[in-house]
Amino acid sequence: MMTQYMTQDELKTLVGRAALDYVTVGSIVGVGTGSTVDKFIDALGDALKVDPGRITGAVSSSVRSTLRLEALGIKVLPCESVSSLGVYIDGADEIDHDGNMIKGGGAALTREKIVADLAEKFVCIADESKLVSLLGTFPLPVEVIPMAAAQVIRAFSKLGGQAKVREGVTTDNGNVIVDVTGLGIEKPAQFESDINQWPGVVTVGVFARNKASVCLLGTEQGVKTLIFK
Ligand code: 5RP
Repeated sequence: MMTQYMTQDELKTLVGRAALDYVTVGSIVGVGTGSTVDKFIDALGDALKVDPGRITGAVSSSVRSTLRLEALGIKVLPCESVSSLGVYIDGADEIDHDGNMIKGGGAALTREKIVADLAEKFVCIADESKLVSLLGTFPLPVEVIPMAAAQVIRAFSKLGGQAKVREGVTTDNGNVIVDVTGLGIEKPAQFESDINQWPGVVTVGVFARNKASVCLLGTEQGVKTLIFK
């Protein structure tokens, strides 16, 4: 029986383990970034102790995840050496009831979008606090080339958002993150396309064109599986 009042950390462990069911034996798996993904990586490490052929390797979306995978003896392949992946497992800062997400709280959004694009299936792992009706309460991360940061901030302010550069953060690609609050994102796919056109924007943290196929949501009642069209 499920213990009551699981911590957020326990819910993350639950979904991190559950994600293993989506990884085909002997495959190469796409791995996202964040504290929930850390639990998935730990589960992969445990599975490999029992079956060293459980996976043949991983494609990672960040230096952080690469280090954790390699520490567990998991081979990390360069993204450019892989043409497709069966599954990409990653967390989210927010996910709506259609599988659209806000991502980038860990500043890894660009590489996450690249690796996710290789995968047939995006499995989002998240605790239930991440499920929302409308994206935009979590500050929207946008990766921006540094010289464009001020003008991107002004452009968001014209849309009614408040944006600022995340202090002390440089992405794995050498850019800055602009975090935007005050926007309710009603048409995520359109919004993603529009913001991606702005000069200096590398990646906007709305994942609507690469949305989740499945979300494994950690709840007090166990793992709830949401399947999206
Ligand atoms: C990193 C991300 C993460 O998936 C997102 O921030 C969720 O992280 P966590 O699992 O730690 O809550 O997009 O860029």
